[in-house]
Amino acid sequence: MKGAVDLDILIPEAKLSARVLELGSEISHVFRGGEPPVMVCVLKGSVVFLADLVRAMDIDVNVDFMSISSYSESRSSSGVVRIVKDLETDLTGRDVLIVEDIVDTGLTLHYLRRTLSARDPASLRTVTLLDKAVRRIIPVELEWSGFEIPDTFVLGYGLDHEGLYRNVSDLIVVPDIAHLVAEPRMYVAPLWPNAAPT
Ligand code: IMP
Repeated sequence: MKGAVDLDILIPEAKLSARVLELGSEISHVFRGGEPPVMVCVLKGSVVFLADLVRAMDIDVNVDFMSISSYSESRSSSGVVRIVKDLETDLTGRDVLIVEDIVDTGLTLHYLRRTLSARDPASLRTVTLLDKAVRRIIPVELEWSGFEIPDTFVLGYGLDHEGLYRNVSDLIVVPDIAHLVAEPRMYVAPLWPNAAPT
């Protein structure tokens, strides 16, 4: 706990990085000996995980980025998704690995898997750092999952609220989401006492 606002750490940095090392080793093992897999990073939340994951791998890989946006204005996914930035890589005949930060209802990943499998990859797999399995609306295949977490809003390690907190090294829990919605910068001072006030 720092400052007036409690910072509840769900998964500390050391535990995140130990698990990412394990995932990197397991994933390398599966793809070893083949063509480099195309790791599809779903912007923006997955960037931090991707950056650590690729460096935990000991095979050659390609990386590409995709940005999708939900039509829903709320934090909950509507499943109606639009591609904002598409991949530059032709996936035909390639081994593809979707790199997700978190799977919640599963609607976003379901859409992504359907879209990418229509591009005729040789194989399509998914790794997610976090899995909120209890929230699932639609079943989705997850070949690798870092941590199963409860139905709670989390921030840090790439995950944001209103674009903030992606650069927190631990995964933190938001016990009072209404408070955060009312005060999006409520964790800024406790996290970074020297950050300039707005
Ligand atoms: P899904 O379509 O419901 O599976 O939603 C997946 C997306 O919802 C993720 O890629 C995140 O952008 C967002 N999301 C879900 N839960 C959280 C959370 O606890 N913190 C931050 N973003 C979340």
